[in-house]
Amino acid sequence: MLFKNISVIDENFNVLQNKNVIIKDQIIHFVGDEIPQEMDNYSGEIINGKNKLLMPGFFNLHCHVPMTLMRGYGENLSLNRWLHEKIFPFEEYLNAQHTYNGSMLGIAEMLSFGIVSFSDMYFFSDAVAKACIDSGIKANISRSIVCFDDSDVTDLQSFWEAKILYDEFNGCEDGRIKVEMSIHAEYTSTPKVVSGLADYAKKIGAGMHIHLSETESEHQDCIARHSLTPAGYMNQCGIFDVPTIAAHCVFVDEHDMDLLAEKNVSVSHCPVSNLKLGSGVAPVSKMLEKGINVAIGTDGVASNNNTNFFEELKLAPILQKGYFHDPLLVSTTQTLQMATRNGAKAQGRQESGVLKVGNRADLIMIDLDKPHLTPAHDIISNLIYSAVPSDIVMTIVDGKVLYKNNEYLTIDIEKVKYETKKSTDEILSRINSKI
Ligand code: NI
Repeated sequence: MLFKNISVIDENFNVLQNKNVIIKDQIIHFVGDEIPQEMDNYSGEIINGKNKLLMPGFFNLHCHVPMTLMRGYGENLSLNRWLHEKIFPFEEYLNAQHTYNGSMLGIAEMLSFGIVSFSDMYFFSDAVAKACIDSGIKANISRSIVCFDDSDVTDLQSFWEAKILYDEFNGCEDGRIKVEMSIHAEYTSTPKVVSGLADYAKKIGAGMHIHLSETESEHQDCIARHSLTPAGYMNQCGIFDVPTIAAHCVFVDEHDMDLLAEKNVSVSHCPVSNLKLGSGVAPVSKMLEKGINVAIGTDGVASNNNTNFFEELKLAPILQKGYFHDPLLVSTTQTLQMATRNGAKAQGRQESGVLKVGNRADLIMIDLDKPHLTPAHDIISNLIYSAVPSDIVMTIVDGKVLYKNNEYLTIDIEKVKYETKKSTDEILSRINSKI
C-alpha cells in the first residue's frame, strides 16, 4: 500500500509534510521523500495523501467492551444503585453469544473512532477474544477476578477461566491478541487471592490489569482495612512485580505516585468516566512529571457512554489546566503521546504506537480538509482540541485496512446491530419476567 504526498506524525511527534509511506505486509516499510525504485512496477493500492494526515492509531487502555450492551442503561444513579439495580441484574443473564455481539458492536465503534488496540477486563472473555480475532483489532484481554470469601485463588472458577483464556489465546493471531491476568480491585478481593494471582502471573510472565484508587471511598476504605493505600496494598501483594496497567488512579497520593514510577506501573487515565461517575480528577500532570507511563482509556460504555477518543483527548489536558489553575499543564504533544505511544508501551507493544520504519502498521488517516481543522497553524493542536471522529477516514491494524470512508471491511455492521438488539431484547425480557 502506497500513500503519496501525505502529512505524517513521525516518531518524534513532529508533523512532516509531503512524505511517501509504504506499508508492506504488517509493517511500515518506508517513510521518505522519494518513492524508492523498487516501486516502479507497483500495481497495488495508491492513496492520494493530499490534505490527509497519517498517524499512529489510538490505544484504549481501559475498557469493558461487552458493556456496550448497557449503553445508556441506568443514568443519574449513585454508583451503588446503578450497580445493584441495573448492571448486576443485566449481567446475570449475559451469555457468551450476547458478549460476542456486544464486543463486536463495541469494536466497530472503536474502529470508527481510530482505536487500533484496547485493554479489556470482563468475563466471557473468550467471546471477547473471538470478536477481536474476527474483526481484526488488537487487544490485551483479561478475565477479571473477584472474591468475597476465604477461597484460595485456585478455588475460583474465574481463575481457571483466566488460565484457559491465557493458554488458548495469548499471542495468537501473530501477537495481535494478548492475555493478561486481572484483579478487579482491592475492594472486590482478598489479600490471599491477590497474592495468589500475582504469583501465578509472575510464574507465566503475564501482565496485570487492575482498577486502582478510582473513588475516594475505595481509597479511604482500603487504608482503614489494611493500613495501606490501594497502591501500597497491591505492591505488598506482589502485583507490581509484573507489568501492570492501573486504571483511574484518581486518589493516588505523592507516595503512591513514587511507587508507581519505581515499579514501572502504567496508569490508564479515564477522564470522561471519572467525571460522569463523579469520581474526581486524576493528578495526571504530576504523574507525568514523575515519569509514570500514563495512557488513556474510555472505561466501559455503560459509564462513558461511547468510546469517542477525541472526547478523552480534549478533556485530559483541559481538566489538568482547569483543576490545578495552570494553563501550562499537559501539552498537546504529551496528550497525543499518552493516546498512542504510551498506550502501546503499557500493552507491551513497543513495536507499535509510533509511525516509523520497521514498526507495525497500526495507523489512522485523518482528513484535514475540514472547516474546523482550518487554518492549520498547529496540526497536533487541531487534533487534540478541534478534531471530531468523522475526520477519521481510515483505520489500519497490522497493515490491514479495517475501516475506510464509513465502511467496515471485516464487520457486517447491519448484522451486528441486529444481533445486538436481539441480545438486549432477550436480556431485558428475562429481567422483566423475573420482576
Ligand atoms: Ni473499569
